[in-house]
Amino acid sequence: MKLLSLYVLITATLCVRAAVPCTIVASGGDDAPVLALALASCRQVLIPKDTTLSIRTALNTTNVKNTHLSLQGTIKYYEDLEYWGANAFPFEFQNVYTFWLLGGKGIVVDGGGVIDGNGQFWWDGLTTNSSLVRPIPLTVYQGDGVIIRNITMKQAPFWFNLVHTSKNVVYSDITIRTTSNGNKSSNTDGWDTYRSNRVAIINSDIINSDDCVSFKPNSTNILVSNLNCTGSHGISVGSLGQYPQYIDIVENVTVRNVNLTNASNGVRIKVWAGANRGSGRVNNILYENTRVNNVDNPLVFDQCYMTNATACAAQAARVDITNVTVRGITGTSSGSAKSLIASLICSPGAVCENIRVDDFSVEPPEQYKPGTTKCSNLDVQGNAADLFDCASTV
Ligand SMILES: *[C@@H]1O[C@H](CO)[C@@H](O)[C@H](O)[C@H]1NC(C)=O
Ligand SMILES: *[C@@H]1O[C@H](CO)[C@@H](O)[C@H](O)[C@H]1NC(C)=O
Ligand SMILES: *[C@@H]1O[C@H](CO)[C@@H](O)[C@H](O)[C@H]1NC(C)=O
Ligand SMILES: *[C@@H]1O[C@H](CO)[C@@H](O)[C@H](O)[C@H]1NC(C)=O
Ligand SMILES: *[C@@H]1O[C@H](CO)[C@@H](O)[C@H](O)[C@H]1NC(C)=O
Ligand SMILES: *[C@@H]1O[C@H](CO)[C@@H](O)[C@H](O)[C@H]1NC(C)=O
Ligand SMILES: *[C@@H]1O[C@H](CO)[C@@H](O)[C@H](O)[C@H]1NC(C)=O
Ligand SMILES: *[C@@H]1O[C@H](CO)[C@@H](O)[C@H](O)[C@H]1NC(C)=O
Ligand SMILES: *[C@@H]1O[C@H](CO)[C@@H](O)[C@H](O)[C@H]1NC(C)=O
Ligand SMILES: *[C@@H]1O[C@H](CO)[C@@H](O)[C@H](O)[C@H]1NC(C)=O
Ligand SMILES: *[C@@H]1O[C@H](CO)[C@@H](O)[C@H](O)[C@H]1NC(C)=O
Repeated sequence: MKLLSLYVLITATLCVRAAVPCTIVASGGDDAPVLALALASCRQVLIPKDTTLSIRTALNTTNVKNTHLSLQGTIKYYEDLEYWGANAFPFEFQNVYTFWLLGGKGIVVDGGGVIDGNGQFWWDGLTTNSSLVRPIPLTVYQGDGVIIRNITMKQAPFWFNLVHTSKNVVYSDITIRTTSNGNKSSNTDGWDTYRSNRVAIINSDIINSDDCVSFKPNSTNILVSNLNCTGSHGISVGSLGQYPQYIDIVENVTVRNVNLTNASNGVRIKVWAGANRGSGRVNNILYENTRVNNVDNPLVFDQCYMTNATACAAQAARVDITNVTVRGITGTSSGSAKSLIASLICSPGAVCENIRVDDFSVEPPEQYKPGTTKCSNLDVQGNAADLFDCASTV
């Protein structure tokens, strides 16, 4: 191992001078140290097409500067559940873990290759251990100026991507695939953003089994556009207000041109109410041109998330929802909610205002027509306002 590192270090130094890529060769053992060293010392790092790197130890590459990683082959996480249980990097936020912290300034990852989370081992493990640590394959952490493009990500044990404490991050041309050959995958969100500013997720195709994209606390100035999301839980703001000690802000988010197929939700905003809720705001959100195809709940705002009606009235949500426009949802619901095609529920006495719904044209399956909606404690504006009977508005 020592010799190998030395070899890489020397080649790395030479490579930087010669401006040719440091090419990483699979060692047959753990390739994490070599990859980490190359990212720390080379301007260009190449993982060739026929190479599969086995990552057996946690990857901390948080200080990468002006580096291009051309991932043409595969990065695959090793199925040692016990090792990762003890050594994956933990986050306080939602008690999640990651295999790989990638951060720094000026990073490009592309090349058409694969990040393989080897998730089936974890989904199997989950059946006998509900507290199993299931790491996230790629976390952009304390990154500024990070581009991840033209990569396939498959089989995440848990979420695929977390963007944490970062800014100026772009994902494009990403293919996400979750396929289970037995015990089902679980919590395989495509992306979660947290404490991050200026993030774009564009031109990507996702097949997974949880949120396609989820904007978690303090996600600001976000663009999501041109996605196909299949089998997901939709594109969600939140949940927010889960922790009483925090102010949660999701502001300036545009979600445009998204196809949602076979999903449990489409466009969704979820905010906690009740005794232990936190505060904050969801402000200036635009969902534009969403096609739904066989989606259980095409449009859902829930400001009483995980809170029963009594508690929601007694302890109103303290995360305000303002300035939200949903323009152009077209397509079909699945009928699993029968005739219901939209549900906008605000917490009694909370701030929930300037909500517009335009061009809403969703049909339930034939036997449930016509479609119905639910609405409470808000005043819906926009050309679809007539679809919403918000009689209980206070
Ligand atoms: C990752 O490495 C950096 C040094 O580059 C260190 O400061 C940081 O504490 C490490 N992070 C974790 C979670 O180990
Ligand atoms: C992705 O990378 C492959 C291999 O480098 C390349 O052939 C292909 O054109 C790239 N695709 C895009 C969309 O950039
Ligand atoms: C469940 O997984 C956790 C974390 O991966 C581990 O610490 C614990 O020992 C496992 N429990 C059992 C019963 O294996
Ligand atoms: C599900 O996981 C359990 C526990 O690891 C395993 O015994 C079983 O074979 C798996 N089921 C399938 C269908 O793969
Ligand atoms: C979405 O799927 C359609 C139909 O399969 C395809 O034409 C389109 O290119 C896909 N879009 C993206 C961004 O992958
Ligand atoms: C959404 O699906 C339609 C119909 O299949 C397709 O024309 C369009 O390109 C898709 N949008 C994206 C962003 O892929
Ligand atoms: C979000 O940002 C606000 C304002 O900067 C801050 O007070 C709050 O603690 C942050 N919340 C989280 C969850 O980081
Ligand atoms: C949201 O956008 C407005 C208008 O561009 C801007 O004034 C505000 O600072 C932005 N909010 C955040 C958190 O960046
Ligand atoms: C959606 O679900 C239907 C019915 O289960 C299935 O026939 C279809 O192939 C699915 N579509 C996609 C894109 O997976
Ligand atoms: C509503 O939730 C509160 C707080 O969790 C609980 O104490 C109460 O029993 C619940 N009421 C009903 C009707 O379920
Ligand atoms: C909502 O938009 C209105 C009109 O643009 C603006 O006056 C108000 O400050 C916004 N609300 C918040 C919480 O920023």
